[in-house]
Amino acid sequence: MSKTLRHLVDPLDLTLEETLRLLDLADDVADHGDAYAHKCDGKILATLFYEPSTRTRLSFESAMMRLGGKVLGFSNASSSSAAKGESVADTARMISCYADIVAMRHNKEGAPRVASMYSTIPVINAGDGGHQHPTQTLTDLLTIRREKKRLDNLTIGLCGDLKFGRTVHSLIKSLVRCENIRFVFISPEELHVPSYIIEEVVKPSGCEYKEVRTMDEVLPELDVLYMTRVQRERFFNEEDYIRLKDSYILDAEKMKLASENLIVMHPLPRVNEIAVEVDDDPRAKYFVQAQNGVYVRMALILMLLGIEPGLFKVESTC
Ligand code: NCD
Repeated sequence: MSKTLRHLVDPLDLTLEETLRLLDLADDVADHGDAYAHKCDGKILATLFYEPSTRTRLSFESAMMRLGGKVLGFSNASSSSAAKGESVADTARMISCYADIVAMRHNKEGAPRVASMYSTIPVINAGDGGHQHPTQTLTDLLTIRREKKRLDNLTIGLCGDLKFGRTVHSLIKSLVRCENIRFVFISPEELHVPSYIIEEVVKPSGCEYKEVRTMDEVLPELDVLYMTRVQRERFFNEEDYIRLKDSYILDAEKMKLASENLIVMHPLPRVNEIAVEVDDDPRAKYFVQAQNGVYVRMALILMLLGIEPGLFKVESTC
């Protein structure tokens, strides 16, 4: 096998074929976890989190531990040398000496890309500002595929903060590669999908899409409803956040309008956008989605480290 260093900074760093192979591996990890318990014995994952996180960081750490590996890192920029002014490039060089693979979350768009240019170990983008979140996308794809049994011929509603929501940007980027995906973008005017995503990603793909301001009229036509939180930390002023934060609230009454085959997803954390009463609806899949995050991260670690095939060329040895 010829191995060149691979990173996952943008969802398109994996081809569709590689993405599907990774989901296959994640399915196997979900079904036969014990078989993977020692695959990463002796390996170290570094989690460098300059921004808050619960699920992403802990699911990465859980993933590595379930593979038999160890973890080190920080969950707060103020406890790292960033507080002394160290550059991302220097931190990436250092961490390459201490770990075998690194997951980085940063408030600055592009920071994980910079890290990947200086690192000698695989770098995984665990969310960069309002930009991308490719491992959440893998989690979302696995959830859709496990629940709907397909990744094509779907009408997908994305609702909430489509402007700052990085999970939305990454999911759109990855899904446009699947057959016959139709998007329904549900957001207030101020939080609509960035025009670069519409112009450079959605339109060239030929995927059908529409933008609407209210949820009720489109609920019956959706196969998937992907709810998102209004991203308070990315607003310039608190007044705008307060005005927009409760734009959409999915509750039991609204769920009556939806198809019985709908699945409701959310990358979490939720604030008010899904009423707690929806949790008991069998169509609510956001906690299953969070569980799937561990399986895809286990699969990703295994593939980026070359322990499981799928990302590197197999060369004939004759
Ligand atoms: C998301 C994120 O960090 O972008 N959370 C996550 O990783 N599951 C969504 C959010 O914070 O709203």
